[in-house]
Amino acid sequence: MRALVVGSGFVGRAVARHLISRRDEAVLASRTPPLVNGSPGSLPWVPLDITRPGAFAGVLADVAPDSIVLVHGPSDVTWCESHPEEAMAGHAGAARLVAEAAGDRRTVFISTDNVFDGTATTCTESAVTRPANVYGRAKLAAEGILSTLPGAVLLRVSLIYGWEAADSPKWLNFFASCVHRLRAGETVRAPHDQWTTPVLVDDVAEATRALAIARVVPPLIHLGGPDRLSRADWAADIAAGLGLPPERVVAESRAHGRYANRPASTCLSSEVFATHPATASLRPRPVGEATRLLLARHLTPNARPTT
Ligand SMILES: NC(=O)c1ccc[n+]([C@@H]2O[C@H](COP(=O)([O-])OP(=O)(O)OC[C@H]3O[C@@H](n4cnc5c(N)ncnc54)[C@H](OP(=O)(O)O)[C@@H]3O)[C@@H](O)[C@H]2O)c1
Repeated sequence: MRALVVGSGFVGRAVARHLISRRDEAVLASRTPPLVNGSPGSLPWVPLDITRPGAFAGVLADVAPDSIVLVHGPSDVTWCESHPEEAMAGHAGAARLVAEAAGDRRTVFISTDNVFDGTATTCTESAVTRPANVYGRAKLAAEGILSTLPGAVLLRVSLIYGWEAADSPKWLNFFASCVHRLRAGETVRAPHDQWTTPVLVDDVAEATRALAIARVVPPLIHLGGPDRLSRADWAADIAAGLGLPPERVVAESRAHGRYANRPASTCLSSEVFATHPATASLRPRPVGEATRLLLARHLTPNARPTT
């Protein structure tokens, strides 16, 4: 299988690496080359601004992929709030250009739990969408356009986490940010009233591949991790994993921090994921197991702080 992966950020790179590890071909596309620890990575990459008319069709013709994975930005909820037109162009505008060119290729669109307003404890695929922020509205508009494609599958994913280096050029995912700030001696403040079902980025990559190669896919599928927890509890688990005392995490209301424009409960039910033949064999990892794995893989015992 040969895939064109649009977006070479945190999730796009993980998807490409996973495909290549499974002996598929993957070509990343974005405006600037992917950077790994500040240096250009070794992953195949082509330049693309997906919002530029004709650009996606040109790259599609050059790369000639069997499937397309759309995992481009903008992905920062706060940035989208202050740049609504760019957010809509980046997702809905881009989706229109993809819809014109993709034909019947399998097109996996990585969408978000922000299409919901966050008032329900958890959301199934049949829950009513009602985005509470610009980012969610832009992603939902893109979903509507792409859903008209015969080969499209909309994969809505909860908060994605994994290892990122402390000097990564953009904001870090919540897990990586907590690890690096705690190790640097900072106290982490996190909301006790914002709930999520986090998913390890490796598990998202595996799910994306499964949907890209399956003969039959559902048009819409949710992927949330098996744990529903508050950001404060999650940060406390990470501190414990680093051997740090619980006082290093301060729980606060989400109204006080950078999470003010986030829905209170961004939790997805994965019942379809657990039963559909395309994904039923996959088991998204619990947060505790993934935390232990990531810390063991990336931190030597000597590098762990003791206070
Ligand atoms: N991270 C999560 O927790 C999460 C959860 C659910 C869904 N998602 C979805 O997954 C996608 C990627 O998330 P991420 O965390 O990997 O974001 P990210 O690290 O910010 O990466 C975004 C990538 O998109 C590229 N991009 C932005 N505008 C583009 C354009 N006009 N044309 C081509 N490429 C463009 C960026 O590179 P350039 O700026 O160089 O072009 C970058 O490579 C987002 O759409 C998000 O909605 C993410």
